[in-house]
Amino acid sequence: MTAVGPKLAPVDPYIAPSILSADFARLAEEVRAVEGSDWLHVDVMDNHFVPNLTLGLPVVQSLLKVTDIPMDCHLMIADPARWAPGYAEAGAHNVTFHAEAAPDPVAVARDLRAAGALAGLAIKPGTPLDPYVEILREFDTLLVMTVEPGFGGQSFIAEVLPKVREARRLVNTGHLNIRVEVDGGVTEDTIVAAAEAGADTFVAGSAVYGAADPAEAVRALRDRARASFAGAAGR
Ligand code: DX5
Ligand code: ZN
Repeated sequence: MTAVGPKLAPVDPYIAPSILSADFARLAEEVRAVEGSDWLHVDVMDNHFVPNLTLGLPVVQSLLKVTDIPMDCHLMIADPARWAPGYAEAGAHNVTFHAEAAPDPVAVARDLRAAGALAGLAIKPGTPLDPYVEILREFDTLLVMTVEPGFGGQSFIAEVLPKVREARRLVNTGHLNIRVEVDGGVTEDTIVAAAEAGADTFVAGSAVYGAADPAEAVRALRDRARASFAGAAGR
C-alpha cells in the first residue's frame, strides 16, 4: 500500500479519568482506584467562568503528593494568565485553560511551558476552532469540550466532532503537533465516534467513577478507543 501523507508515529489513546465524579472526601483513595490511567483529569472551577465551584491549587498540590499519574489540570476559570502558571509550577503535567477566558492565550502557553508543563487550550462547544489554528503551534493539547463546561454527567454533544476531525487533519498533515482531547459525556458508546473523528485523549468522569470497577472502566474505554482510532483517517 502506498503512503499518502507524512509518516507519523502511531498515537496511543490516553484515558483521563475526571475526579469531578469521585468522592471528594476520599480523593487519595479514588485516585488510587484509577492507577494505570494515562492522565488524571482535575477540573478547577471558580464560579465565575462557569457556574460551579470545585477545587484549586492547594488540593492539586496535595493530590500531586499521592499519585504518579501525570496530572491534567483543566482550568475553567477567569484570568488564567494570573492563575494557570501556579499549576505548572506545582508539577501538573498538562495545564489547559479556556480560549474564551484568555485575551492573550499565547502568553499563557509560553508561561506554562517555561514552568515545565504542557500547555493546553480548551474551547467550549460553541467556540469555533479556526481563529485558534495558528496559535495552536504554541500548544501541546487542544481540549474540545463535548459538553458545556461546568458539570459532570451531561450528554455528549456530537455536533462538535467536526472540530475534532479538523484538528486531526491538521496533525496528520504536519501543521500541528498536539494531542486532541475531548471532555464531557464520554462513555463506552460515545468514545467510538470521538475516536473515529480523531480524538486521542479522552476525559471520562461518570463513566469511570460511576462504574463498579473504575480501573476496569478505564481499560474498557481504552480498548474501545484503540479499536476505533485505528480506523481514523491517516493512521
Ligand atoms: C465538565 C468537566 C468534565 C467532567 C466530565 O465541565 O470539564 O471534565 O468531569 O464528566 P463526565 O465524563 O461525567 O461528562
Ligand atoms: Zn474537564
